[in-house]
Amino acid sequence: MYDIDRLRDQFPILRKCIYLDSASTSQTPICSVEAMCEYFYEYAANHGRGAHHLARKTTEKYEETREILASFLKVPAGHLIFTKNTTEAVNLVANGIRWKKGDEVITTFLEHHANLLPWMMLREQGVRVKIVPHENGYIRPENIQNEITKKTRLVAVTHMPNILGTVQPVEEIGRISRDAGVPVIVDGAQSVGHFPVDVKNIDYLAIPGHKGLLGPQGTGALYAKDPDSLKCSIYGGGMVVHVSHEEVELLPPPARFEPGTPNIPGVIGLGPAIRLVKNLGVRNIHAYEKRLGHRMYRGLSSIGGVEVYSPPGTGVVSFNAEGRTPNEFARELDEYKKICVRSGMHCAEPLASSYHCQGTVRASVGCYSTTDEIDSLVGAVRHLSGHDR
Ligand code: ALA
Repeated sequence: MYDIDRLRDQFPILRKCIYLDSASTSQTPICSVEAMCEYFYEYAANHGRGAHHLARKTTEKYEETREILASFLKVPAGHLIFTKNTTEAVNLVANGIRWKKGDEVITTFLEHHANLLPWMMLREQGVRVKIVPHENGYIRPENIQNEITKKTRLVAVTHMPNILGTVQPVEEIGRISRDAGVPVIVDGAQSVGHFPVDVKNIDYLAIPGHKGLLGPQGTGALYAKDPDSLKCSIYGGGMVVHVSHEEVELLPPPARFEPGTPNIPGVIGLGPAIRLVKNLGVRNIHAYEKRLGHRMYRGLSSIGGVEVYSPPGTGVVSFNAEGRTPNEFARELDEYKKICVRSGMHCAEPLASSYHCQGTVRASVGCYSTTDEIDSLVGAVRHLSGHDR
């Protein structure tokens, strides 16, 4: 286990509140903020453009993050395309496949909008979207297998749904799909940095920079086992070998997929944040967050008038308190003890509304959360819900 007090020194904001909204976005460590300041104060320039020393240093630092992420995921750096978030990574795949009318995509009932809307929009091109149901928060791989036909072009599945926090059997789903010759995209919004992710059977992995990897907002990446399997969907500067008015010769991936000036400070700030996660050890983080999640689940489930929707055992717990809307209750928690949790539909409206409520209150931990914070949450929910005995 790592030294939690030392880790928390990296996050001064945690002295001011109880932050239990890390599934939405994580707090950013000092090492990451300092790297961004250093960029602005010492060498800011554009990436991949220009021969002067600032541009060279910028390019070197930007590419260093790609190497750090590659080593963290144990994949080749050239297979990582930087994006602004998980959503953009999923869209690169949705818009990068040459769809034909009648093609099928299989996805699941657990998805948040980022891994649902890009597929639903393909209906305009005549693509059929099949939605596999869950059983108590889990997708059974055989239910995916049963939906695969000769027309299936892709399976798109979350690694961990953001409302329920249940870890899905993506390796098995990947194996089944690949055996059937169907590529798989895994939405790693809630998994990367929280527990080990093995891309052996995964063709595409959508990666957020600003959640489990502790990087700044506006950063993310797409891992593609075969980047050449995708066509570009965004065009502009920085992606070409040569252009005339008659023809365009594109650079190889990943540059081909990163036209325009990217989020340079964000990507540079992401590097040290990933290093921090790597040094803590992703297995240690997983074990620690699981312990906190169990404590949170047990505590909240024991309070009368509180309905808990998540199955036990993860760092994400969704619940509601009798007589309050999720937003009202989240605001009360904030006003009472500066406890920050998310409330509402969580950008996963089909799943949230299946519980016949106006969304949920969701508490989610990060590697920097503590048992004291969990106990404060449980105590506050007990107090505010009128079960303070
Ligand atoms: N998908 C993010 C969340 O779960 C924004 O809160």
